[in-house]
Amino acid sequence: MDGLPSRFDALDPAVREDPYPTYSRLRAAGPLCRFGPGSWGVTRHADVVALQKDPRLGSEFPEAYHHMSVGEGPAGDFFARIMLYRDPPDHVRLRRLMSGAFTPAVVRRLRAYMEKLVEDLMAPALATGYSDIVRDLAYPLPVMVISELMGIPPAAHDDVRRHAMRLGRAFSAIVPERDRADAHESVTWLRSYIGCLLDQRRAEPGDDLLSALLRAEDGGDRLTHDEIVDNTVFSFFAGFETTVHLITNGFAALTRFPDQLRRLRADPSLVPSAVEEFLRFEAPIQGTARLVREPVRIGSRTSAPGGSWC
Ligand code: HEM
Repeated sequence: MDGLPSRFDALDPAVREDPYPTYSRLRAAGPLCRFGPGSWGVTRHADVVALQKDPRLGSEFPEAYHHMSVGEGPAGDFFARIMLYRDPPDHVRLRRLMSGAFTPAVVRRLRAYMEKLVEDLMAPALATGYSDIVRDLAYPLPVMVISELMGIPPAAHDDVRRHAMRLGRAFSAIVPERDRADAHESVTWLRSYIGCLLDQRRAEPGDDLLSALLRAEDGGDRLTHDEIVDNTVFSFFAGFETTVHLITNGFAALTRFPDQLRRLRADPSLVPSAVEEFLRFEAPIQGTARLVREPVRIGSRTSAPGGSWC
């Protein structure tokens, strides 16, 4: 067997400051790197793209994994249930029912609301010529949009955002001790809040996403109360931190490349491709995890279920 692949430490302060030199070194060293106990990193784009579609890998980690990550309690139970961590057939079923309700048309209906919201949030910056873009736009915007989508009243936005942020810190392989209690408390708060809202929508349906999820039906199959609650709470995180990072990274990139900013200002039809480029250039999510279910070969090594490579 050849020498062990290089080790990758995602928590190294130098990596957090600027991961790209490390990624480049790892890619050049080989297709695999050592990541943590029983866990390996795949360094090259073509391998990652192929593996994401490979049925020999799965997303359904044992419940013990979630409890090891975040400690025993409601947060670990919640992670084990959400669609992100389910495999077929459960994943296919949840995804079909959820995406039947959460359609591009539902998002398009929010367009005017979003445009007005961005104008309002940016008004002080336009008046003063100064903005902290994270505080003024990136942080408040996503939770307001997702809340509008769910029909959450503005008075609850701050609480929802605070709890979503705390839960967000728990989507990690190992959650630091200080964040664990927060994650359990926040998942309990968010589940209870969304559960009550769902009961209200059941009695009095509206044109919000929660009402659409209650109506969602596929050949007689429907989402249960708990499935809607869990996956709605998940979408707060899924759509929240990701979008905060996309907006922030996009602004940061434009300040670093003023020629690109000038191009974009001169031709706003470039915005959709600029967003794609922001996602590529400084990805809001820098990695995803999969469980090896059957042996997979990468480079000169074959993985075994359970995390070892030989
Ligand atoms: C810049 C914005 C976003 C980025 C970069 C992003 C990125 C991702 C990635 C990489 C995954 C796959 C994770 C994996 O397979 O391990 C994912 C899944 C998911 N995201 Fe997003 N996301 C964004 C916005 C949103 C929004 C706004 C929502 C909803 C409000 C959302 C809902 C979901 C859901 C429900 C899944 C799970 C899908 C499944 O398991 O089939 N995301 N996202």
